[in-house]
Amino acid sequence: MAEIIGVIGGTGLTELEGLQILEYQEVETPFGAPSSSITWGNLHGCRLAFISRHGNPHRIPPHEVNYRANIWALKHVGVSKIIGVNAVGGIHGSMGPAHVVIPDQLIDYTWGRPSTFFEGDLEHVTHIDFSFPYDKDLRQVLCDCAGKVRAPYSDFGVYGATQGPRLETAAEIKRLERDGCDIVGMTGMPEAVLAAELEIPYACLSLVVNWAAGKTTEIITMADIENAIADGMGHVRAILAEALPVLQ
Ligand code: HPA
Repeated sequence: MAEIIGVIGGTGLTELEGLQILEYQEVETPFGAPSSSITWGNLHGCRLAFISRHGNPHRIPPHEVNYRANIWALKHVGVSKIIGVNAVGGIHGSMGPAHVVIPDQLIDYTWGRPSTFFEGDLEHVTHIDFSFPYDKDLRQVLCDCAGKVRAPYSDFGVYGATQGPRLETAAEIKRLERDGCDIVGMTGMPEAVLAAELEIPYACLSLVVNWAAGKTTEIITMADIENAIADGMGHVRAILAEALPVLQ
């Protein structure tokens, strides 16, 4: 039977263009409601389950997203892989606006977010291995497809996950850079670890929508971010369209 791919869309990807919508499913979870109903659809003949991370309309800030409910709901409806799409700031010199990064590592700077399923009334304490937070095979497919559709992309990158919702200071970005981060975003964690805890292969398509704070002399404006989303989200859609048939 064909596998079901889960896609979590972020800023700029509240809906999937070209998605033939079959049904909306409300899922209740032990952790409350997911950010949106699950949209069941066909994209170029492939079945997928889509959640809009910030809700539709876009209203839930990154630190208030119910990551546990989103991942639990996707597992519950039977997805076998998850692709998280997110908007990020570029730190690495080659990762400017409209560039797509398929990160291979992350550093978590978030705090106060419920970030595990393994707490509360447990039978035993569980520590999962998280050495390599993104699924190797899923990343490989995304990288191959990015190459095929000629998207400007990088097949490596350390994702620094910050708390938000404010953007960073220039000094914070310097610190992230010293730590080895190549891109910075607010939603990469705990999404990745929750997928790992439920043993769902997970990878990200990160679209750079601005240079990170202090990387240029300009301040970061929402207008610039919106322009970069308009320029770059087409690449993300093209990669998804190419990747989905390969993944099923
Ligand atoms: N920092 C954190 N998150 C982001 C940024 C940024 O510069 N751009 C888009 N999401």
